[in-house]
Amino acid sequence: MAARYQTHEHDVLVIGAGGAGLRAAIEAAASGVSVGLVCKSLLGKAHTVMAEGGIAAALANVDERDSWRVHFADTMRGGQYLNDWRMAELHAKEAPDRVRELEAWGALFDRTKDGRILQRNFGGHRYPRLAHVGDRTGLEMIRTLQDHGIHQGIDVHMEHTLTALLKDGERVAGAFGYDREKGLLHVFRARAVVLATGGIGKAYQITSNSWEYTGDGHALAYHAGAELMDMEFVQFHPTGMIWPPSVQGILVTEGVRGEGGVLLNKQGRRFLFDDIPDAYKGQTADNEEEGFRYTQGDKSARRPPELLTRDHVARCIVREIREGRGSPHGGVFLDISWIKKRLPNAEELIKKKLPSMYHQFLKLADIDITREPMEVGPTTHYVMGGVRVESESQMSTVLGLFAAGECAAGLHGANRLGGNSLSDLLVFGQRAGAHAAQFAEKTGAVRIDEAQVEQAASVALAPFEREGIDDGAGPYRIQHELQQTMQDLVGIVRTEGEMLRALEAIARLGQRAERVRVAGNRAFNPGWHTALELRNLMTVSEAVARSALERKESRGAHFRDDHPGKDGGSGKMNVVVRRGPDGTMQVARRPIAEMRKDLREIVEEMK
Ligand code: FUM
Repeated sequence: MAARYQTHEHDVLVIGAGGAGLRAAIEAAASGVSVGLVCKSLLGKAHTVMAEGGIAAALANVDERDSWRVHFADTMRGGQYLNDWRMAELHAKEAPDRVRELEAWGALFDRTKDGRILQRNFGGHRYPRLAHVGDRTGLEMIRTLQDHGIHQGIDVHMEHTLTALLKDGERVAGAFGYDREKGLLHVFRARAVVLATGGIGKAYQITSNSWEYTGDGHALAYHAGAELMDMEFVQFHPTGMIWPPSVQGILVTEGVRGEGGVLLNKQGRRFLFDDIPDAYKGQTADNEEEGFRYTQGDKSARRPPELLTRDHVARCIVREIREGRGSPHGGVFLDISWIKKRLPNAEELIKKKLPSMYHQFLKLADIDITREPMEVGPTTHYVMGGVRVESESQMSTVLGLFAAGECAAGLHGANRLGGNSLSDLLVFGQRAGAHAAQFAEKTGAVRIDEAQVEQAASVALAPFEREGIDDGAGPYRIQHELQQTMQDLVGIVRTEGEMLRALEAIARLGQRAERVRVAGNRAFNPGWHTALELRNLMTVSEAVARSALERKESRGAHFRDDHPGKDGGSGKMNVVVRRGPDGTMQVARRPIAEMRKDLREIVEEMK
């Protein structure tokens, strides 16, 4: 290998160090193989921390009626039956053990009165199921995995961005990238690679995601020949901050609603009572009193409508805003302070259960949530779509390439239930790590030809070498225009005309991105970093728009104004995209495998 690259060799290379990446790296290292863990940011800075309200696992600590069966049925219903049912089964069965393991590694969960892990209510979960640490669960998870992981002999490469996967024939052989601090080029040779890069939130203007979430793993896999599935399903979390503008999109945990918070329009009306989806009718309270009793642990009461699934709640909020019943800054109100009318110790309870929300609103918006309502609106939070993987092993259609967590598809179908992401990344991070290690042990050494590395290097360095033919504003403007396009044309409510316009815009922006020039040198150069991320953002944006065009119905997080109903016939399929031989994106429909009989019976029984 030419000396202008630093080379590293690992049996298993894990890309991304959020919950899924850390869990995969821990598991692979425990199998005795050498593990490299690459992260774009500093270790511990991950979108996992934005799953604040809890980890979904049927521990049945708060309601003994809960079981893996109910969790499985809830997950399938929430995903509108497009989920990979085997993944949903594994997830529901294995999540409790993964939570107990996390506790054994030092996670400090909130407790029931008799000392067990406390669980709270969340949207779409029939029983209180979310093991939590106040409203900082994701943070505690990352802290625990990180503390545990650093003692497992894993080589951590922080602040490295990978720009291409390297292959040896049909199998993956490593990755190419650079370190952000010095701009040096790196070649990582590996027998197996696990992608755990999280989501695509930065393709949208309003998002709970931070700068790292540019669809890197999705794009790396796609360009290496893997398939992406379910990309039309982008989750808009119903409650992000909307005011002041500088904090727009920051997450307001669903835990607020789990603890009794209600959504109100400007008339002070709880508008979610107006529209209860058929699938949830029998289980949703039809009055305020009953809903409140449910949040306070009355097992005979039914859930308040604020705990319906996120896709539905977000759409109802959009309706209120569009029809002129929104709050002054273009959202709706979320009120937890109202519980003071019912509970004498409400103020203390809010501060104890929702400490981050209390401080977040006080410091950023000058709002005391124990006394006044918050203003909130939908924010791009999560993508259900990702790399298509085999259910048990998490291996993609490229040999030796695995994916786990948000960048993998399958578990959540058309809509993810809150809290199912933290359990997803523990369950499937563990599985991906174990299977990647097995794959690495079984297979021979990889060979990477130098031409492939040279090609990856020339793509990475191209922005410095162009002749100044961009429009003068550099990569940031292109990124901004793309975010605006996706927000306006491929957002919560979509139509064919809008999405065709989006595709034209993405193509134009893509051409500009290929010509964009950056100035300066390679040492910490954010313009260069942004220029390289544009390719990933273009790929995932095109995948979202093309998949959304292909699905001519409304289901879960995908709502089309021109096809507002569900198509029970042709809608029951997954949309898959892959890179064609001519380099264009090809779209295909994939039939859903028939569900195993015993699982079908569970679904029927729970209905
Ligand atoms: O609202 C929340 O705390 C987010 C949780 C999740 O996305 O799973």
